[in-house]
Amino acid sequence: MEPKKWTQLWLDYHKMYEGQKSWIIAVTGFDKENKVLRNALSEFEKGILAMTLETVTEEVSADALTFTISQNRTLPIEGYRIDGSHDGILLEAFDEKGVLYGVFAILRQIACGKRATEVEENAAPTNPLRMMNHWDNMDGSIERGYSGESFFYVNEEIVIDDRTRDYARFMASIGINGIVINNVNVKGAASYLITDRYFDKVKELSDIFEGYGIKLYMSLNFASPIELGGLDTCDPLDKDVISWWEDKIKEVYDRLPGFGGFLVKADSEGRPGPFTYGRTQADGANMLADVIKPYGGIIIWRCFVYNCTQDWRDTKTDRARAGYDYFKDLDGAYHDNVILQIKNGPMDFQIREPVSPLLGGLMHTNQMLEVQVAQEYTGHQIDLCYLIPMYKEVLDFHTHCNRGKDTVADVVSGRTMGNKLGGMAAVINTGNDENWTGNDLAAANLYGFGRLSFNTRLTSEEIAKEWIAQTFNLPEKESDILCSMLLRSREIYEKYTSPLGIGWMVTPMGHYGPSVDGYEYSRWGTYHRADHLGIGVDRTDKGTGYAQQYYEENAKMYNDPNTCPEELLLFFHHIPYTWKLKTGKTLMQHIYDSHFEGEEEARGLAADWDKLKEVIPAESFDRVKKRFDLQLDNAREWRDQVNSYFYRKSMIPDEKGRTIY
Ligand code: GCU
Repeated sequence: MEPKKWTQLWLDYHKMYEGQKSWIIAVTGFDKENKVLRNALSEFEKGILAMTLETVTEEVSADALTFTISQNRTLPIEGYRIDGSHDGILLEAFDEKGVLYGVFAILRQIACGKRATEVEENAAPTNPLRMMNHWDNMDGSIERGYSGESFFYVNEEIVIDDRTRDYARFMASIGINGIVINNVNVKGAASYLITDRYFDKVKELSDIFEGYGIKLYMSLNFASPIELGGLDTCDPLDKDVISWWEDKIKEVYDRLPGFGGFLVKADSEGRPGPFTYGRTQADGANMLADVIKPYGGIIIWRCFVYNCTQDWRDTKTDRARAGYDYFKDLDGAYHDNVILQIKNGPMDFQIREPVSPLLGGLMHTNQMLEVQVAQEYTGHQIDLCYLIPMYKEVLDFHTHCNRGKDTVADVVSGRTMGNKLGGMAAVINTGNDENWTGNDLAAANLYGFGRLSFNTRLTSEEIAKEWIAQTFNLPEKESDILCSMLLRSREIYEKYTSPLGIGWMVTPMGHYGPSVDGYEYSRWGTYHRADHLGIGVDRTDKGTGYAQQYYEENAKMYNDPNTCPEELLLFFHHIPYTWKLKTGKTLMQHIYDSHFEGEEEARGLAADWDKLKEVIPAESFDRVKKRFDLQLDNAREWRDQVNSYFYRKSMIPDEKGRTIY
């Protein structure tokens, strides 16, 4: 059988120049037989050959270049320094992972136009943990997956092949050091990942990851003592439950010595958790953390806890409040090997949300930022939506939790509190599609998340340019066109879907395409609370009080519609359609204009893509073009449904007299 082909994403190693030399490798301070080091060297050999035609040899000759790898314990953990000169390259690193990252940095710089002898960088990761969360299920399906089926699981079996290794290479090349291999909603066979049924295969997977500096983690079913152990409770304070976990976790570490720990979704959207037994989230997390601690493991506990069947007709009820309400009072109660994983916004990965007030709101607890690279609410990897600018906004947000080190980047990296555990996690957007991410351009988000979590100071544009150079190696003019497309795309998507922070208005189950009143879990209420006079949710001190969950400076800013950033106006306020925005336009006119412009600008994106036909490989070009056709249908549909909905509600005509369908 022909092996299935898949693309090499940003590790395609295009020919960059024709070098005349060969390379000799000299290693000092490291064990050459170490798995990570061997993988690093083999990547160097592969990349250098493909990009410069130069080979690595063992023969010492006078004019050979030397690639010197040497240990330097004065550098930070996982850090590296690369320095090219006429003799070759010096790579110094703290540890083997630093060597691996250094090699990928060398190859990246060559792919971006430098000669091998010119490479230069001094780098260390900003975040201790840089993780991918797979929402893959054991039957091969992927929750919110838009790129085919899982490449980890087929029919409840774990699949390990060349693709697994390529995947690990891609992740290492962008600095990822932890991977959660199964969906946070742990159902069916996934509960058995911590049993004999799967240990051997998980170990094999974990060994491959380990060779690329990546720890394997799993999502955990809090009800395992019942489902696997036959107990009649999973109360975290019950003696039998604790002793069941002690045995289970010992078994896990006997079989998977390098195991990282567990990610837990509890008490949310139907998942079991400590609330059932009148216990707190801290009771649940700490019990597991104590049991796993002797093995060096960690518990990553998600803060996405809310009551999904809330009755929204009560205007004081507010899902946005839930995370803070459940977790803030327990700040300081979590043990030191617990990390709380917090979604970037208080709701659920909308195209625009304020930053969750828990980030930095907690001052005595390890925190990790969770973002969604999978485009659940942002276009299903059909519509172009480069998400890195959104992540940057979140990282750069001043929480005002202290003076000086108060951005989200400060908080999650550990700079604010001086803690060692924290970082960034992404719900990944991969699947077994030939190109991994469905839309070839969605790989920019995957690449970008890794790069940004490694170095939060990189700009969205720098990341886009790097990705374009490595993936397509385009001439400058075309590279600029694609870069501009990426950078424009998020706002365009926002304009034709749900501007001003209103969110949702999307089909309730699928989350693609408009359904203005759609709400997933309950018949009661809408997300937007529109009536014939206005739209938006009053989250001020007179409304749900959500704005008061922020530190004073931000609370004040959000509480007043005149100081609230306009892109979040309808998130925080219920505003009349006749309200004048800073542009002088009324709110209603803004809604019309935004949707017309968004649709038009989406057409602009598609037209720009057509300009790249000659320089993008044909299959790639066609795949993306087909998606632009669908995106344009989607944008039209959104424009028409939203505009006509609000026209009918408000009865205010479009000042420009355009047809509202
Ligand atoms: C969203 C998403 C779910 C997912 C949940 C989560 O609500 O639609 O599919 O399980 O987030 O993050 O746990």
